[in-house]
Amino acid sequence: MKRKILVIGIGAGNPEHLTIQAVAAMNRASVFFIPDKGTTKEQLARVRKEICERFIRASSWRMVEFDVPPRQKAARGYRGAVADWRDDVASVYERLLMEELAGEQWGAFLVRGDPSLYNGTTRILERLRARRRFELDYEVIPGISSVQALAARHKVPLNTIGRSVLITTGRKLAERFPDGADSVVVMLDGDRALRSADGDLDVFWGAYVGMPEEVLVAGKLREVIDDIERLREAARAKHGWIMETCLLRREAGE
Ligand SMILES: C[S@@+](CC[C@H](N)C(=O)[O-])C[C@H]1O[C@@H](n2cnc3c(N)ncnc32)[C@H](O)[C@@H]1O
Repeated sequence: MKRKILVIGIGAGNPEHLTIQAVAAMNRASVFFIPDKGTTKEQLARVRKEICERFIRASSWRMVEFDVPPRQKAARGYRGAVADWRDDVASVYERLLMEELAGEQWGAFLVRGDPSLYNGTTRILERLRARRRFELDYEVIPGISSVQALAARHKVPLNTIGRSVLITTGRKLAERFPDGADSVVVMLDGDRALRSADGDLDVFWGAYVGMPEEVLVAGKLREVIDDIERLREAARAKHGWIMETCLLRREAGE
């Protein structure tokens, strides 16, 4: 039996980010696989459930929650640890797809933001294909990424005229500001890097963008870094988790 999966981008946290294509795809799916992931799980599972209840018109669908295996920090360095972790996750997906899908049913993974940005779902599905335990077909539906949501909330384009945009992680930015970059988007562990970045940069920062908890700050980095750190700590203490993204850029001279 062929297993069929929809990888659906659901936007950055506001249910209204869902595209019409995503809603149509959700209405084709019978089984929704919902990851249960550490401290952010309640809020993230809540958004996914709200989206399902609000947009699915089909009469029969169900959710299957599953535990995401923990990432081992140990021996093989960051890339090795991620590769090992993806293998563990692939084994969990393999079991889910074998046990939970019947006949012509489509399964769905609801991916935060867009599946193409810092999300491993398609890589894991490719791993499953390579294992050849069953035939697997999947489709990817794009979503509004946190990067787009951030730019919209700050009402700024990501690029300056005719220049490039680089998307990176806080971990990478902490090593050095990318050579020759004008506009840099920082995702994942952004809290590591901002304090040490050049204070002359303009920053457009957002946490929980699109969600009721949203916080936005913009300005010259040296003038707003204290505000960002204070708001970040207060929000983390209040909600127990945080997701933040920012755009950094050199003065455009436009
Ligand atoms: C694992 S990545 C997933 C990115 C996602 N696929 C996307 O397209 O936005 C998680 C990171 O996305 C960013 N992020 C996701 N949702 C966010 C939100 N609502 N507000 C701010 N940043 C967000 C944060 O940088 C977070 O650490």
